[in-house]
Amino acid sequence: MCGIAGYTGYQEATSILLAALKKLEYRGYDSAGIAVLSAAPDFSGANIEVRKTKGPLSALEAALENNAPAGKLGIGHTRWATHGEPSDINSHPHTDVSGSIAVVHNGIIENYAHLKSFLRERGVVFRSETDTEVIAHLIDHYYQNDKHPRSDPLLRATLQAISKLEGSYALGVIARDFPDRLIAVRKDSPLIVGLGKNENFIASDAPALLAYTRDVYFLRDNEIAVLYNDHVDMYNNSGEKILRESQHIDWDVESAEKAGFAHFMLKEIHEQPKALRDTLNPRLGGGINTAANVQIHFDELDLPALSAQAKRIVITACGTAYHAGVVGKYAFEHFARLPVETDIASEYRYRDPLFDKNDLFIIISQSGETADTLAALRLAKEHGAKVIAITNAVGSTISREADTVLYTRAGPEIAVASTKAFTTQLMCLYLLALELGRLRGVLGPERYAEGIAGLQKIPENAAKILEHKEAVQRYAARQFNKKKVFFLGRLFDYAVSMESALKLKEISYTHSESFAAGELKHGPIALVDKDTLVVTFATQETLFSKITSNVREVLSRGAASLIVMQEPDGGSTTFLEAAKTIADEIWTIPRTAAPFTPLLTVIYMQLFAYYCSVSRGNDPDKPRNLAKSVTVE
Ligand code: F6R
Repeated sequence: MCGIAGYTGYQEATSILLAALKKLEYRGYDSAGIAVLSAAPDFSGANIEVRKTKGPLSALEAALENNAPAGKLGIGHTRWATHGEPSDINSHPHTDVSGSIAVVHNGIIENYAHLKSFLRERGVVFRSETDTEVIAHLIDHYYQNDKHPRSDPLLRATLQAISKLEGSYALGVIARDFPDRLIAVRKDSPLIVGLGKNENFIASDAPALLAYTRDVYFLRDNEIAVLYNDHVDMYNNSGEKILRESQHIDWDVESAEKAGFAHFMLKEIHEQPKALRDTLNPRLGGGINTAANVQIHFDELDLPALSAQAKRIVITACGTAYHAGVVGKYAFEHFARLPVETDIASEYRYRDPLFDKNDLFIIISQSGETADTLAALRLAKEHGAKVIAITNAVGSTISREADTVLYTRAGPEIAVASTKAFTTQLMCLYLLALELGRLRGVLGPERYAEGIAGLQKIPENAAKILEHKEAVQRYAARQFNKKKVFFLGRLFDYAVSMESALKLKEISYTHSESFAAGELKHGPIALVDKDTLVVTFATQETLFSKITSNVREVLSRGAASLIVMQEPDGGSTTFLEAAKTIADEIWTIPRTAAPFTPLLTVIYMQLFAYYCSVSRGNDPDKPRNLAKSVTVE
C-alpha cells in the first residue's frame, strides 16, 4: 500500500523524508519519490524540485546522490501501483502543469476519468496514467480561479478540489507560493500528523514518525491539517477551524507497523471492509447511493462484445485464488446463465483441454506471479484464447501477459495467508457476473439492481462480522487442539468450506478438509469421531433441512459442531432454533442473498484460523513451508 511522509521544520527535508519512507517499506511499494521546496529564509525565491524513480528506495537514493534537493519543506511517497504500471512517470509526487503545486496521495479517486476530461477541456495536458495527477491540476485550477485571494487561497483551493473527489484519499500538498506550510487531508485512508518542536510531520503510519515524535493527531475522515513549523491548524471540510487533542503513542516500532494489531494477518482481515469498498465503488457509475440507477462498468473491457460472443467461461487459478474461482463458477451460472469450467492451474496446464475461440478465459492470482497460473495463461494464449486476469499486483508478469487486467484494490498483503486478496477477488467476480447477466438479457433491471444493492451492503456487514471476533477467539481457544476439522457446505457454502479448510491447515497446521455436505455419507463420515470439529455452513435456507440432516449424522459420532448461518429473518427464529439443537456454537451473518454469503462467512473462518494458529503458538504471518508468491512449479 502506498506510504506518505511529509516534513516542515528546520532540518533538511530530503533526509527526513527518506528515513520516514524507509519505515513505511513494510507496507509494500514499487516506486518512490519526493518533492522538496527550497526557499531563502525569508521565503523568497521558492522552487519545488521533484525526484522519483521506479523500484526500491535504494534506487531513489542512488538518483539523489549528488543531486538531492535542498529545502526544509517536503513530501514523499512510496507507491503501490493502482492506476498505471510502476514507472518513473507514474510515481508520486505529481505536480500541476507549471510545477508549482506538488501532491502525494494514498487511496483511489473513483471519478478521476470524469475529472480528467473536465481538466483536459480546460487545456491541461496529463503526463501520467495515475488518478493522483488530477488532484494537483484540480487544486491549481481552483487556485488560479480564486476570486478571494487574501483568505488562505491554498487551503481554499484544496477544499474546493477535494469537494469534487469521489473515493478514498490521504493527501500531502505543498505549493511554491506558500513556502511556509504543508497541507494534509484525510478521507477513508489513514494519515497522521506528528507534532515536533519547530518542526511538524505527516505520515500514513506511526512507524515513520516514532524517531521524531510520539505526539500525534490521528486525522479523522474529512479533516484537513495545515502544518507550519511552529504550529498546526486543523479544519473540517467546510474550512471551519476545529480543535483536536493530540494523542501520545506508546507502541514500539514493531506493533506500530501492524497498526497495533498483533499480526499483519489480523490487520489485513480488519482491512477488508475498506478493501471491498475500494474494489466495488470505482466500478459503479450513475450515483452510488441509489442502487436503482447504478450501472457496473469495466472500462478495461469491451464487455458487450465479449458477452455477445462468450459461450463458456474457463477459470483457472491456484489455492485460495482457485477457491475464488469456484465461487465465481456458481456466480456466473447463477447470474449470467453461462456454463463455467473451473480448474486448478497446475492440473489445467497438463491436461489436454478443449479450446473454443468463444471461450472467456479468466485467470485469478493475487501475486500475479504464480508459476502454474502463468503456465495456464500461456497455454490458453497459445490456443488463441483472450485472457482476462484478476490480480492485485499491477505490473506483475500475469498482468503484463494477459489481454486484459481487472485489478482488485486490496493493497499489498504482507501475511502469507491470503485474506483481503481473496474477498476482493470475489467482489470482482460478482460484479462481472452481474454485468454479464445484464448484457445477456438474463438478469432483468430489478434483479440487477438488487444484486448491486446486495454488494453495496457487504463492506458494512463485513465490519459487523469483525465485531464478533472475541466470540471467535473464545471458541478457537476451546477447539484449537482438535485432531481434525471438517468443513461442510453446499454450492456457495461448499466453496467457502474449501477456503476455510485451506486457511486453517496453512496457518494452524491442523488437519482440515472440506466436503460437499452430501458427500459425507459416501466415505468421509468414517473419519468422524470425538476428536473432530465439524463446521457447517448453512446460509442457504432452501437447503437448510438437507444440511442439518448431514450435521445430525456427525453429532451421533461424538463430533463438536459449529454452524455458520444467516441471522433470523425478522421475528422468525425457526432456522435458528433448529440449529441450536445440533450445534454447540452458532455464528450468524447479517442477512445477505445466498450468492454473496461467501464474502461474509469466510471472514469468520479467517479469524478462526488466525486464533487457532495463535493458540497453537504458531506465527500466522509466516506459516512453515509456505511462501507468499509461488514462482516455481
Ligand atoms: C493461501 C494462499 C495461496 C495462494 C496460491 C496462489 O492463503 O494465499 O493458496 O492463493 O498460492 O497464489 P496467487 O493468488 O498469488 O496466484
